[in-house]
Amino acid sequence: MRHLMSPLDFTTEELDKLFDLANDIEKNPDKYAHICDRKKLATCFYEPSTRTRLSFESAMINLGGSVIGFSDAGSSSASKGESVSDTIRVISCFADICAMRHPKEGAPMVAASKSKIPVINAGDGGHQHPTQTLTDLLTIRSLKGKLDNFTIGLCGDLKFGRTVHSLINALIRYNNVKFILISPEELRIPSYIRETLVNNNIEFKEVVKLDDAMPELDILYMTRVQRERFFNEDDYLRLKDFYILTKEKMELAKEDMLVLHPLPRVNEISVEVDDDPRAAYFKQVQYGVYVRMALILTLLELA
Ligand code: CP
Repeated sequence: MRHLMSPLDFTTEELDKLFDLANDIEKNPDKYAHICDRKKLATCFYEPSTRTRLSFESAMINLGGSVIGFSDAGSSSASKGESVSDTIRVISCFADICAMRHPKEGAPMVAASKSKIPVINAGDGGHQHPTQTLTDLLTIRSLKGKLDNFTIGLCGDLKFGRTVHSLINALIRYNNVKFILISPEELRIPSYIRETLVNNNIEFKEVVKLDDAMPELDILYMTRVQRERFFNEDDYLRLKDFYILTKEKMELAKEDMLVLHPLPRVNEISVEVDDDPRAAYFKQVQYGVYVRMALILTLLELA
Protein backbone atom coordinates (compact mmCIF):
# COMPACT_ATOMS: atom_id res chain seq x y z
CA MET A 1 0.00 0.00 0.00
CA ARG A 2 1.26 3.44 -0.95
CA HIS A 3 0.65 6.86 0.63
CA LEU A 4 1.52 10.34 -0.67
CA MET A 5 3.27 12.54 1.90
CA SER A 6 5.69 14.43 -0.33
CA PRO A 7 6.05 14.94 -4.09
CA LEU A 8 9.37 13.09 -3.73
CA ASP A 9 7.45 9.89 -2.91
CA PHE A 10 7.18 9.46 -6.69
CA THR A 11 10.19 9.21 -8.97
CA THR A 12 10.24 11.54 -11.98
CA GLU A 13 9.42 8.51 -14.17
CA GLU A 14 6.40 7.75 -11.99
CA LEU A 15 5.37 11.39 -12.18
CA ASP A 16 5.56 11.26 -15.99
CA LYS A 17 3.20 8.27 -15.95
CA LEU A 18 0.87 10.08 -13.54
CA PHE A 19 0.80 13.20 -15.74
CA ASP A 20 0.25 11.11 -18.91
CA LEU A 21 -2.72 9.54 -17.15
CA ALA A 22 -4.01 12.97 -16.07
CA ASN A 23 -3.75 14.24 -19.66
CA ASP A 24 -5.61 11.16 -20.92
CA ILE A 25 -8.34 11.73 -18.30
CA GLU A 26 -8.63 15.31 -19.59
CA LYS A 27 -9.09 14.09 -23.18
CA ASN A 28 -11.23 11.00 -22.50
CA PRO A 29 -13.23 11.57 -19.30
CA ASP A 30 -15.88 8.94 -20.19
CA LYS A 31 -13.24 6.20 -20.18
CA TYR A 32 -12.71 6.80 -16.45
CA ALA A 33 -16.28 7.56 -15.35
CA HIS A 34 -16.93 4.25 -13.56
CA ILE A 35 -13.51 2.97 -12.52
CA CYS A 36 -14.16 3.85 -8.86
CA ASP A 37 -17.77 2.63 -8.70
CA ARG A 38 -18.43 1.55 -5.07
CA LYS A 39 -15.14 3.10 -3.84
CA LYS A 40 -15.17 5.79 -1.16
CA LEU A 41 -12.85 8.72 -0.53
CA ALA A 42 -12.72 10.25 2.96
CA THR A 43 -11.74 13.92 3.11
CA CYS A 44 -10.54 14.70 6.65
CA PHE A 45 -9.86 18.44 6.75
CA TYR A 46 -8.77 19.92 10.08
CA GLU A 47 -8.01 23.23 8.33
CA PRO A 48 -10.05 25.36 5.88
CA SER A 49 -9.91 24.59 2.17
CA THR A 50 -11.88 25.27 -0.98
CA ARG A 51 -9.82 23.90 -3.88
CA THR A 52 -8.04 20.93 -2.38
CA ARG A 53 -11.03 19.39 -0.62
CA LEU A 54 -13.54 20.08 -3.38
CA SER A 55 -11.18 19.04 -6.17
CA PHE A 56 -10.56 15.73 -4.36
CA GLU A 57 -14.29 15.27 -3.98
CA SER A 58 -14.93 16.23 -7.59
CA ALA A 59 -12.14 13.85 -8.70
CA MET A 60 -13.67 10.87 -6.86
CA ILE A 61 -17.18 11.66 -8.11
CA ASN A 62 -15.83 11.97 -11.70
CA LEU A 63 -14.42 8.45 -11.26
CA GLY A 64 -17.80 7.07 -10.20
CA GLY A 65 -16.97 6.83 -6.49
CA SER A 66 -18.45 8.58 -3.50
CA VAL A 67 -17.18 10.84 -0.75
CA ILE A 68 -17.49 11.05 3.04
CA GLY A 69 -15.66 13.31 5.46
CA PHE A 70 -15.51 16.46 7.51
CA SER A 71 -14.41 19.95 6.57
CA ASP A 72 -13.36 21.28 9.95
CA ALA A 73 -11.96 19.79 13.13
CA GLY A 74 -14.80 21.29 15.16
CA SER A 75 -17.36 19.02 13.53
CA SER A 76 -15.25 15.88 14.11
CA SER A 77 -14.39 14.02 17.30
CA ALA A 78 -11.02 15.80 17.27
CA SER A 79 -12.96 18.46 19.19
CA LYS A 80 -13.47 15.83 21.94
CA GLY A 81 -9.78 15.00 22.00
CA GLU A 82 -9.55 12.08 19.55
CA SER A 83 -6.05 11.59 18.16
CA VAL A 84 -5.25 11.54 14.44
CA SER A 85 -4.01 7.95 14.89
CA ASP A 86 -7.37 6.81 16.27
CA THR A 87 -9.32 8.79 13.69
CA ILE A 88 -7.51 7.16 10.75
CA ARG A 89 -8.06 3.68 12.23
CA VAL A 90 -11.78 4.50 12.29
CA ILE A 91 -11.78 6.04 8.80
CA SER A 92 -10.01 2.89 7.52
CA CYS A 93 -13.22 0.99 8.37
CA PHE A 94 -15.35 3.37 6.30
CA ALA A 95 -13.37 4.38 3.20
CA ASP A 96 -10.90 3.08 0.60
CA ILE A 97 -8.62 6.14 0.53
CA CYS A 98 -8.22 9.30 2.63
CA ALA A 99 -7.09 12.86 1.88
CA MET A 100 -6.06 14.67 5.07
CA ARG A 101 -5.24 18.32 5.73
CA HIS A 102 -3.96 19.28 9.18
CA PRO A 103 -2.44 22.42 10.72
CA LYS A 104 0.26 20.33 12.46
CA GLU A 105 3.30 19.43 10.38
CA GLY A 106 3.64 15.66 10.12
CA ALA A 107 0.06 14.81 11.18
CA PRO A 108 -0.79 13.05 7.85
CA MET A 109 2.46 11.06 8.25
CA VAL A 110 1.34 9.90 11.71
CA ALA A 111 -2.02 8.94 10.20
CA ALA A 112 -0.33 7.02 7.36
CA SER A 113 1.70 5.00 9.87
CA LYS A 114 -1.52 3.67 11.46
CA SER A 115 -3.70 3.47 8.38
CA LYS A 116 -5.05 0.45 6.54
CA ILE A 117 -5.89 2.62 3.49
CA PRO A 118 -3.76 5.01 1.38
CA VAL A 119 -3.43 8.45 2.99
CA ILE A 120 -2.76 11.58 0.94
CA ASN A 121 -1.22 14.63 2.59
CA ALA A 122 -3.54 17.47 1.52
CA GLY A 123 -1.35 20.08 3.28
CA ASP A 124 0.32 19.92 6.72
CA GLY A 125 1.02 23.24 8.42
CA GLY A 126 3.80 25.20 6.75
CA HIS A 127 5.50 21.98 5.64
CA GLN A 128 4.31 20.30 2.41
CA HIS A 129 1.39 20.35 -0.01
CA PRO A 130 2.23 17.55 -2.43
CA THR A 131 -1.01 17.47 -4.42
CA GLN A 132 -0.69 21.21 -5.08
CA THR A 133 2.80 20.44 -6.39
CA LEU A 134 1.44 17.69 -8.64
CA THR A 135 -1.09 20.26 -9.88
CA ASP A 136 1.66 22.84 -10.49
CA LEU A 137 3.89 20.36 -12.32
CA LEU A 138 1.04 19.10 -14.51
CA THR A 139 0.09 22.70 -15.33
CA ILE A 140 3.66 23.59 -16.32
CA ARG A 141 4.13 20.38 -18.32
CA SER A 142 0.80 20.81 -20.12
CA LEU A 143 1.18 24.51 -20.93
CA LYS A 144 4.97 24.71 -21.48
CA GLY A 145 5.42 21.18 -22.82
CA LYS A 146 8.36 20.48 -20.50
CA LEU A 147 9.55 20.41 -16.91
CA ASP A 148 13.14 21.44 -17.54
CA ASN A 149 15.20 24.37 -18.83
CA PHE A 150 13.32 27.34 -17.42
CA THR A 151 13.61 30.08 -14.84
CA ILE A 152 10.88 30.25 -12.22
CA GLY A 153 10.27 33.15 -9.84
CA LEU A 154 8.59 32.29 -6.57
CA CYS A 155 7.17 35.43 -5.03
CA GLY A 156 5.59 36.36 -1.70
CA ASP A 157 5.51 34.32 1.48
CA LEU A 158 8.37 31.89 0.93
CA LYS A 159 8.80 31.28 4.67
CA PHE A 160 5.42 29.76 5.51
CA GLY A 161 4.31 28.84 1.98
CA ARG A 162 4.12 25.05 1.96
CA THR A 163 3.27 25.05 -1.76
CA VAL A 164 6.59 26.79 -2.43
CA HIS A 165 8.56 24.34 -0.29
CA SER A 166 7.00 21.34 -2.04
CA LEU A 167 7.44 22.84 -5.51
CA ILE A 168 11.13 23.67 -5.02
CA ASN A 169 11.81 20.13 -3.75
CA ALA A 170 10.07 18.69 -6.78
CA LEU A 171 11.61 20.97 -9.43
CA ILE A 172 15.23 20.48 -8.41
CA ARG A 173 15.01 16.97 -9.86
CA TYR A 174 14.63 18.38 -13.39
CA ASN A 175 17.48 19.70 -15.56
CA ASN A 176 18.46 23.34 -15.61
CA VAL A 177 15.60 24.80 -13.58
CA LYS A 178 16.74 28.14 -12.12
CA PHE A 179 15.04 29.81 -9.18
CA ILE A 180 14.56 33.48 -8.36
CA LEU A 181 13.21 33.69 -4.81
CA ILE A 182 11.39 36.99 -4.40
CA SER A 183 10.31 37.91 -0.88
CA PRO A 184 10.58 40.52 1.83
CA GLU A 185 13.46 39.88 4.24
CA GLU A 186 11.08 38.53 6.92
CA LEU A 187 9.53 35.95 4.58
CA ARG A 188 12.63 34.42 2.99
CA ILE A 189 12.68 30.66 2.38
CA PRO A 190 13.59 28.53 5.40
CA SER A 191 17.27 27.70 5.72
CA TYR A 192 16.68 23.96 5.16
CA ILE A 193 15.32 24.71 1.66
CA ARG A 194 18.25 27.06 0.93
CA GLU A 195 20.62 24.30 2.02
CA THR A 196 18.87 21.85 -0.31
CA LEU A 197 19.43 24.24 -3.22
CA VAL A 198 23.09 24.79 -2.30
CA ASN A 199 23.79 21.09 -1.70
CA ASN A 200 22.30 20.17 -5.08
CA ASN A 201 24.21 22.91 -6.96
CA ILE A 202 20.99 24.54 -8.11
CA GLU A 203 21.27 28.05 -9.56
CA PHE A 204 19.19 30.46 -7.46
CA LYS A 205 19.13 33.99 -6.16
CA GLU A 206 17.14 35.73 -3.46
CA VAL A 207 15.82 39.21 -4.26
CA VAL A 208 13.34 41.65 -2.76
CA LYS A 209 12.13 43.53 -5.87
CA LEU A 210 9.71 41.77 -8.22
CA ASP A 211 10.21 44.30 -11.06
CA ASP A 212 13.90 43.49 -11.45
CA ALA A 213 13.21 39.77 -11.75
CA MET A 214 10.25 39.97 -14.16
CA PRO A 215 12.13 40.07 -17.52
CA GLU A 216 14.09 36.90 -16.65
CA LEU A 217 11.13 34.71 -15.79
CA ASP A 218 9.50 31.91 -17.78
CA ILE A 219 7.12 31.24 -14.90
CA LEU A 220 6.02 33.51 -12.06
CA TYR A 221 4.55 31.64 -9.08
CA MET A 222 2.75 34.15 -6.89
CA THR A 223 1.74 33.30 -3.32
CA ARG A 224 -0.46 34.83 -0.65
CA VAL A 225 0.94 36.23 2.59
CA GLN A 226 -0.76 33.83 4.99
CA ARG A 227 -2.45 35.63 7.86
CA GLU A 228 -3.10 32.32 9.68
CA ARG A 229 0.63 31.56 10.05
CA PHE A 230 1.62 34.89 11.66
CA PHE A 231 2.03 35.19 15.42
CA ASN A 232 1.81 38.97 15.25
CA GLU A 233 -1.06 40.71 13.40
CA ASP A 234 1.02 43.92 12.93
CA ASP A 235 3.65 41.96 10.99
CA TYR A 236 0.94 40.53 8.76
CA LEU A 237 -0.57 43.98 8.11
CA ARG A 238 2.85 45.41 7.26
CA LEU A 239 3.69 42.64 4.78
CA LYS A 240 0.36 41.63 3.26
CA ASP A 241 0.47 44.01 0.28
CA PHE A 242 4.24 43.91 -0.23
CA TYR A 243 3.72 42.50 -3.76
CA ILE A 244 0.83 43.27 -6.07
CA LEU A 245 1.07 41.97 -9.63
CA THR A 246 -0.55 44.55 -11.90
CA LYS A 247 -1.03 45.03 -15.65
CA GLU A 248 1.90 47.47 -15.63
CA LYS A 249 4.21 44.89 -14.04
CA MET A 250 3.09 42.31 -16.60
CA GLU A 251 4.48 44.61 -19.31
CA LEU A 252 7.97 43.84 -17.95
CA ALA A 253 7.49 40.09 -18.50
CA LYS A 254 8.20 37.78 -21.45
CA GLU A 255 5.31 37.32 -23.88
CA ASP A 256 5.00 33.64 -22.98
CA MET A 257 5.62 33.87 -19.24
CA LEU A 258 3.06 31.87 -17.23
CA VAL A 259 1.56 33.30 -14.05
CA LEU A 260 0.66 30.58 -11.57
CA HIS A 261 -0.80 30.85 -8.06
CA PRO A 262 -1.97 28.02 -5.81
CA LEU A 263 -4.88 30.27 -4.74
CA PRO A 264 -6.69 31.58 -2.75
CA ARG A 265 -5.55 35.03 -3.82
CA VAL A 266 -6.09 38.07 -1.63
CA ASN A 267 -4.50 41.22 -3.14
CA GLU A 268 -1.28 39.91 -4.61
CA ILE A 269 -2.61 39.60 -8.16
CA SER A 270 -4.79 42.45 -9.33
CA VAL A 271 -8.02 41.16 -10.93
CA GLU A 272 -7.16 43.10 -14.10
CA VAL A 273 -4.38 40.53 -14.72
CA ASP A 274 -6.98 37.74 -14.98
CA ASP A 275 -7.69 38.66 -18.62
CA ASP A 276 -4.03 38.43 -19.61
CA PRO A 277 -3.50 35.22 -21.65
CA ARG A 278 -0.43 34.50 -19.51
CA ALA A 279 -2.58 34.24 -16.35
CA ALA A 280 -2.92 30.47 -15.86
CA TYR A 281 -4.09 30.19 -12.25
CA PHE A 282 -7.67 29.19 -13.00
CA LYS A 283 -6.52 26.63 -15.61
CA GLN A 284 -4.22 25.37 -12.83
CA VAL A 285 -7.30 24.65 -10.66
CA GLN A 286 -8.78 22.51 -13.46
CA TYR A 287 -5.52 20.58 -13.81
CA GLY A 288 -5.79 19.92 -10.06
CA VAL A 289 -8.89 17.80 -10.63
CA TYR A 290 -7.27 15.73 -13.41
CA VAL A 291 -4.13 15.08 -11.40
CA ARG A 292 -6.10 14.11 -8.28
CA MET A 293 -8.15 11.69 -10.41
CA ALA A 294 -4.89 10.19 -11.68
CA LEU A 295 -3.51 10.02 -8.14
CA ILE A 296 -6.59 8.26 -6.72
CA LEU A 297 -6.42 5.68 -9.54
CA THR A 298 -2.70 5.17 -8.99
CA LEU A 299 -2.87 4.76 -5.19
CA LEU A 300 -5.86 2.42 -5.47
CA GLU A 301 -3.90 0.47 -8.13
CA LEU A 302 -6.75 0.88 -10.61
CA ALA A 303 -4.67 2.42 -13.40
N1 CP B 1 -4.38 25.75 -3.10
C1 CP B 1 -5.01 25.36 -1.99
O1 CP B 1 -4.52 24.55 -1.19
O2 CP B 1 -6.24 25.92 -1.83
P1 CP B 1 -7.24 25.58 -0.64
O3 CP B 1 -6.61 26.04 0.64
O4 CP B 1 -8.51 26.32 -0.97
O5 CP B 1 -7.44 24.09 -0.63
